Amino acid sequence: MYGTRSPRMRTRRLFGRTDRGSRREIMLPLCAWRFDPTGETHVGRRIDENYKMIEIRKEEPGDQDAVRLINLAAFENGPEAAIVDKLRASCKDYLAFVAVEDDRIVGHILFTPVTIDDCDTVGMGLAPMAVLPSCQRKGIGSQLVRHGLQSLRQSGCPFVIVIGHPEYYPRFGFEPASKYQFVSQWEGVPDEAFMIVVFDGDALPRAGGIARYRDEFDEAM
Ligand SMILES: CC(C)(COP(=O)(O)OP(=O)(O)OC[C@H]1O[C@@H](n2cnc3c(N)ncnc32)[C@H](O)[C@@H]1OP(=O)(O)O)[C@@H](O)C(=O)NCCC(=O)NCCS
Repeated sequence: MYGTRSPRMRTRRLFGRTDRGSRREIMLPLCAWRFDPTGETHVGRRIDENYKMIEIRKEEPGDQDAVRLINLAAFENGPEAAIVDKLRASCKDYLAFVAVEDDRIVGHILFTPVTIDDCDTVGMGLAPMAVLPSCQRKGIGSQLVRHGLQSLRQSGCPFVIVIGHPEYYPRFGFEPASKYQFVSQWEGVPDEAFMIVVFDGDALPRAGGIARYRDEFDEAM
């Protein structure tokens, strides 16, 4: 439960490393994935001969069960599915999109408010994002990120942060948050994994600050 562990302990758990054969897994918090540092499994883009049109739309009330199943499958029964359910119930600014293929929901992305200590500016945090394992590597995740960012930019959101893989998110405009003197609330997050995309630089505090996700992310850890 929140408050029973120190931030350092929570972060260590989130960053736990395991060995599977020659493959090393690095678990990043909130929006990172199982990273294969050999690069062998993700060199180049796989061409999907059965490519189908993907529709990205806002999450609707009837989508909840499918979204839960996607998060459970993509995160191997991790806490992310429960975090999403909790945020849907508690966060009035919950903003989620789903990817639909052949009337089936195959992907989900969530944005929730992020605050900066000692500053009134509120941005959004991307976390979590999930695509059904059988539908990954077809560009669905990328479509979800692009659609979500475009929607947030149009709505006047000043910035979006993410904690995730540094080789993936820069393609969407993310850059190290340290460039703007932002630090993560969680100890031990690698500098390059904590990223930000800025839509309105004037809204950012010059001195930066600690960026905080909703408490639900802590409570579910
Ligand atoms: C992360 C995730 C949402 C991406 O969705 P996706 O539909 O597979 O993503 P895309 O097809 O748009 O992009 C895949 C890109 O990621 C790269 N990639 C895929 N697996 C990777 C890995 N293990 N390590 C590093 N990069 C990887 C691919 O090389 C590809 O890049 P390319 O366009 O240069 O070829 C999906 O893999 C997933 O659900 N993973 C499990 C849950 C998770 O870890 N979520 C993290 C965000 S919270």
